[in-house]
Amino acid sequence: MLRSVVRGVGAALPRRIMRNTDFEGIMETSDEWIAQRTGIRQRHIADDTETTASLGEAACRAALANAGLVPGDIDLVLLATSTPNNTFPATAVEIQERLGIRHGFAFDMQAVCSGFVYAVTTADLYLRGGQARRALVIGAETFSRILDWEDRSTCVLFGDGAGAIVLEAAEGQGTISDRGVLAASLRSDGSHKDKLYVDGGPSTTQTVGHLRMQGREVFKHAVGMITDVVEATFAQAQITAADLDWFVPHQANKRIIDASAKKLGIADEKVVITVDLHGNTSAASVPLALSVAVADGRIKQGDLVLLEAMGGGFTWGAVLIRW
Ligand code: ACO
Repeated sequence: MLRSVVRGVGAALPRRIMRNTDFEGIMETSDEWIAQRTGIRQRHIADDTETTASLGEAACRAALANAGLVPGDIDLVLLATSTPNNTFPATAVEIQERLGIRHGFAFDMQAVCSGFVYAVTTADLYLRGGQARRALVIGAETFSRILDWEDRSTCVLFGDGAGAIVLEAAEGQGTISDRGVLAASLRSDGSHKDKLYVDGGPSTTQTVGHLRMQGREVFKHAVGMITDVVEATFAQAQITAADLDWFVPHQANKRIIDASAKKLGIADEKVVITVDLHGNTSAASVPLALSVAVADGRIKQGDLVLLEAMGGGFTWGAVLIRW
């Protein structure tokens, strides 16, 4: 059977770093408050020349270099983002154009923080269905552009960045030993849409709007939802937490990550944490974390890697990949 195998991974971050202490002069907050509640120490913030498309393009070029491939080898560009350059055309099409790809197809997906997990699952179906042979799956965001910089309860939590992987269709045996995407579970429930949302949009206010969040409510649901889809994914693959080599969760909040790993019985040393460096970069957080753990030699070919995310909607999901 066909499997979607990871050939390469790459990332890109804005040049400017904003540390927790940089907020102290602007609003009533502290490094201690932010770090204790979230694990965040710093985040990257895009300047006027950096956009979701430019960061996405840079992440794609890094992933292609890591894979030993060129843009012409790609026939699907799938971008997970909630902060596109324009309402339309899709920012994926702009990235496709920046890379000089003139064949195949490109489109955006919007599942907020779960976007990358949704996009990997979607690309896997296109590759296994024979619609494409090699996909760039990207998570890229400039959340700094939709933050209310007067609201200390949200603006300290998010950052900008992009990550990408190259997936390639390759023959496998249909067993858990195959390289590639092995199992996935996606969920959403719109009855929670008012807990984390943007208060603007083309069809309502004709503005871009600002991010609004009931932080406690999000926290309350996060661990249960995350563990639910992870357990569904384990059941599909007929594995347990002990079989995992690496757990790469959405990087929103270290307390949510720690509580989820504990409930699932995943050992601390298998958990990849980058929230301290990047803050919450929404759909970019998982591929950014992957790129760090691959670059520093933790994730190696053959390792069993579990990705998960949860975000606005609510949306949530998990994907199991043999690297
Ligand atoms: N600095 C200092 N004080 C602050 C700040 C800040 N940046 N922000 C809020 N406060 C104050 C509040 O005003 C409040 O003060 P009060 O008691 O005088 O009214 C106090 O701190 C407590 O506020 P809470 O919102 O109740 O703080 P809580 O302990 O719940 O922590 C937090 C807030 C960190 C947002 C937490 O709820 C959380 O992590 N929620 C999860 C949300 C999340 O991670 N979302 C990411 C997107 S969703 C996703 O990706 C999964």
